[in-house]
Amino acid sequence: MVYSLGEPLRASASGSPCCVDALSFRAAHKRAPRPALPPSERTGTLATGVYYAPISQILETPSVTAVSVDLSVPLGRLRLANPILVASGTFGYAREMAGLVDLGRLGGIVPKTITPQPRGGNAPWRTVETTGGMLNSIGLDNDGIEAFIAHHLPYLGSLPAPTIVSIAGHDLNEFTEMAARLDGLPGVAAIELNVSCPNVSGGVDFGVDPAMCRKVVEGARRATSLPILAKLTPNVADIASVARAAADGGADAISAVNTCLGMAVNWRKRKPILGNGVGGLSGPAIKPIALRCVYQVAQAVSIPVVGIGGIATIDDVMEFLVAGASAVQIGTANFYNPTATITILDALPAAVAELGAERIIDIVGSLKRPSPASPIVPISPAPHTTSKTH
Ligand SMILES: Cc1cc2nc3c(=O)[nH]c(=O)nc-3n(C[C@H](O)[C@H](O)[C@H](O)COP(=O)(O)O)c2cc1C
Repeated sequence: MVYSLGEPLRASASGSPCCVDALSFRAAHKRAPRPALPPSERTGTLATGVYYAPISQILETPSVTAVSVDLSVPLGRLRLANPILVASGTFGYAREMAGLVDLGRLGGIVPKTITPQPRGGNAPWRTVETTGGMLNSIGLDNDGIEAFIAHHLPYLGSLPAPTIVSIAGHDLNEFTEMAARLDGLPGVAAIELNVSCPNVSGGVDFGVDPAMCRKVVEGARRATSLPILAKLTPNVADIASVARAAADGGADAISAVNTCLGMAVNWRKRKPILGNGVGGLSGPAIKPIALRCVYQVAQAVSIPVVGIGGIATIDDVMEFLVAGASAVQIGTANFYNPTATITILDALPAAVAELGAERIIDIVGSLKRPSPASPIVPISPAPHTTSKTH
């Protein structure tokens, strides 16, 4: 399928993705070089002596009218029509969102994590808004794998977007048995191993320890021929080593990341707000952490990376793709802007073409590494600054 801004343009004769006039698009939208800014407008200096550049000067917003780009991406053996997926726990089992979102346009759907047995989840409160995000401690509330197979999978399997089933177990055996149970079931395109949920006792341990993570992936790998994604936690000192372990265990792709451990406090009551005490922070607040994790993981492994964390806009998506993600999952944004995925999909072809590319895969990991020898523009201290610095 070929997309213009929002509208499917045409499919190639073979039905596979194709590119039309990206070259003429590029020529038509070549911008005149911008005049150099005087040094005073290039950067600012805070009283602390920290140099900064206003974001409006870093990011330019070109005007773009129409473009066709091949949006398809491979995730190992799984081929997606486009790289925009929805993240586990933020989109229900898709049926709930059908009235709001054209589900057929999504690159993939990751429903709420399922466990072998039904789970009631954690005590309330389970969510609380925070600056630039939210904390949750849902505790993997779900009806269990058999209820999922009976009630949700038939609907998910009827959708054009592939379903990546998210599973979590308390021990190695539970992961392996769930993978075996899902193997070969119609409607299951792949499995995402949630080795990173911070809201269940022991749930994060597999993703913290590279050796354990590898064992979980190996067990699932032996149990199924389905593509396997390992979803990692950012709450580790060295995410690259966990990603390498997952890849060595046979994962087809890495999903990075789950939520960051956090806490909210009601100081008047001297109590944590979440019933569980702590929870997982998500939303725009964690984007820089997630972006750093994706960059480090993409450097460390040769399998594809799916970026997750604070992604809400086309600029966010492009940042993750360039940093090394082959696809992204939209999470918390679905709560406050349920059509964020569609808005992003509408803007994606033009954004890719702006980089002179005709295919998504050509921009994945194309980030220019920062040069260690970058010169710092010398700026004399402002008259009122004190010598206090951090
Ligand atoms: C309310 C809520 C429930 C979540 N439930 C799950 C879950 O069941 N399984 C999982 O792997 N991740 C779960 N997550 C994590 C998200 O899938 C995602 O990794 C994380 O929120 C970061 O992305 P975001 O900042 O775009 O939300 C949940 C997140 C939220 C906010």
